[in-house]
Amino acid sequence: MKKIILTSLFILSSFLIQAQNEIAPKIEEILSQLTLAEKVAMCHAQSKFSTKGVPRLGIPEIWMSDGPHGVRAEISWDSWDNAGWTNDSITAFPALTCLAASFQPSLAKKYGIALGEEARYRKKDVLLGPGVNIYRTPLNGRNFEYMGEDPHLASTMVVPYIQGVQQNGVAACVKHYVLNNQELWRDHINVEVSTRALYEIYLPAFKAAVQEGGAWSIMSAYNQYQNQFCSHNELLINKILKGDWGFDGCVITDWGAAHDTRQAALYGLDIEMGTGTNGLTTSTQNHYDNYFLAHPFLNMLQSGEIEEAVVDDKVRRILRLMFRTNMNPDRTFGRMNNVEHQQVARKVAQEGIVLLKNEDNFFPLDPNKKMTIAVIGENAFRPLTTGGGSSDLKPKYEISPLQGMRERFPNAVILHTLGYASGPPAYGRVIPSRYDVDSLRREALVIAKRADVVLFVGGLNKNHHQDCEGGDRLQYGLDFGQEELLRMLQDANENIGVVLLSGNAVAMPWLGRTKGLIQGWFLGSEAGHALADVISGDVNPSGKLPFTFPAKLEDNAAHHFGPLSYPGDSINQHYKEGILVGYRWHDTKKIKPLFAFGHGLSYTSFDLSAIQTDKKSYAPGEYITISCKVANTGQRAGSEVVQVYVGKTKSEVERAQKELKAFSKVMLEPGKEATVELQVGLDKLAYYDEKSSGWKLEKGEYVVYVGTASDKISKKVTISVK
Ligand code: BGC
Repeated sequence: MKKIILTSLFILSSFLIQAQNEIAPKIEEILSQLTLAEKVAMCHAQSKFSTKGVPRLGIPEIWMSDGPHGVRAEISWDSWDNAGWTNDSITAFPALTCLAASFQPSLAKKYGIALGEEARYRKKDVLLGPGVNIYRTPLNGRNFEYMGEDPHLASTMVVPYIQGVQQNGVAACVKHYVLNNQELWRDHINVEVSTRALYEIYLPAFKAAVQEGGAWSIMSAYNQYQNQFCSHNELLINKILKGDWGFDGCVITDWGAAHDTRQAALYGLDIEMGTGTNGLTTSTQNHYDNYFLAHPFLNMLQSGEIEEAVVDDKVRRILRLMFRTNMNPDRTFGRMNNVEHQQVARKVAQEGIVLLKNEDNFFPLDPNKKMTIAVIGENAFRPLTTGGGSSDLKPKYEISPLQGMRERFPNAVILHTLGYASGPPAYGRVIPSRYDVDSLRREALVIAKRADVVLFVGGLNKNHHQDCEGGDRLQYGLDFGQEELLRMLQDANENIGVVLLSGNAVAMPWLGRTKGLIQGWFLGSEAGHALADVISGDVNPSGKLPFTFPAKLEDNAAHHFGPLSYPGDSINQHYKEGILVGYRWHDTKKIKPLFAFGHGLSYTSFDLSAIQTDKKSYAPGEYITISCKVANTGQRAGSEVVQVYVGKTKSEVERAQKELKAFSKVMLEPGKEATVELQVGLDKLAYYDEKSSGWKLEKGEYVVYVGTASDKISKKVTISVK
């Protein structure tokens, strides 16, 4: 297998080198014809989501669009308002947390292809996503746009997503580079983190995106690192990204994340977007000329304060991006809202939904049975593709959980009431609900008592202080009185299950009396269908948690260390937990989570056996091959994710007890078994040595843990590195 990978990597890289060689002289030719002013004009926005071309030379504009889960509605030229187009409704795909929970890289590829096709059809050149900031705290308002807490999982899932998007001639723009792990004070907070944690936890998914995914653009984060804004950061961009990783694409600012002309020019920024207008109103003509990389930059170039080579490097990168996208004559035409895309959306949702608890086989519910189901909760019919900030979508349709249930359970009487209510969607502020709490609850209790089964569909939504950009959550528990309501519903009817729609973990004081619990994420256009597929048992759940659910907030590493660790003092924050993020912390410190990383149940059962490594001792450069027999020992077909973690006993540095290094999802008919082989390169066991500023592979004993969740290990095998 290793050989096949290496050969295909070789073919791919020779192909890329050839393409590169053809483009390079063309870029030089164009560069030689551009005036200084034309070059500068390419380095900044001309509208909210586009940059200028050079019409006299036939060089097109670049058009960008959010975001990670679907192509955003058309935005006005000069304001954040929707442009009011009627032909920009798209397919909404499940949020990236759900994609990560599928633990299935081949699906990430399909997701990327479908999304890229929609972007292409909408005539976008750069798609502003995916996001791979690490899940550090459950309060981060944007976790739903990211791929969880583990660098290996995020790296593995992001690569095929990018390749899928880009095969359409649309650039992925991986965001937010880097350390944008909370929304509170995101526009200025200075993050202090150990170099080791930076390299081992926060950078790997970006590195994989660039080196393995071949990302053509990257979006810089708002925050600061080492007191320098990430948008123009000598170390992060010039040294690590463009130097060490050899990134040849464009660095694009997050919207309004540039702060200084000189630094932007010298410290790696290529395209400046979304900057405020320095007191000019948005209606002022040409306020884009006042951007840091506009007239002020031109002035410094003309005066000789900055060398022309600086702008030339940026323009080369921008032209390279164009030859890969809007100046690539071979790119596809794209497609939108076709059945295949809807099927991809549904499939990702089906594979990512996680069954967290299933007492007395509460799920699946039998669709052939005549019964009364009380579907209670606002999220049962609230649009959840809307809101959340820049990932807000305008889908052609969105199947609500309620609709999905009604379609799939025609023999049941389905009653529905809100039970609780939040306010209408609003970005950056909270609008209180119009409804009276007591009457909502009263009605919910009436139908709960009448029903055979209660299904509570709640969680978070996409409003401010929920799962939404621009602010963090204010509490770990569920909002809008949901906890209290759940207690009352449990008193009224003990046959109760919960479907949580959220991109984050929540506190669950109500878990004990909940029989079945499904983590349903934000599932996009096909949400209701996919949920009904799992609830009815048409689909056997196989998603696994991409992040830990701590029992209480203080159990999470970032929160354990108090306010300077999260959220900081508004100027600085210190990631005091270092490398011990998520399950690394829980495992090492022996703090039992509510639900562990990698956890997820099935309607069938699996047995892992014959777990072994190919050898007992390895030399640097080698691969460990782990094999394992997986048997479906239950009554239904289903998929299981075999997870391989590795830990170092007796290390010269602090280590996590174990870290995910490989995984594989396998589908099995009932009674069948298969042998799974997984490989871990020895280089993956190295730690980042701050003293020598490099990776160091320690000799000695390591423990390989094989299981189906970070807290469900079937076998440990000790190996050694010589
Ligand atoms: C977000 C980005 C987004 C950009 C453009 C910013 O507020 O942080 O993720 O791509 O806006 O909408």
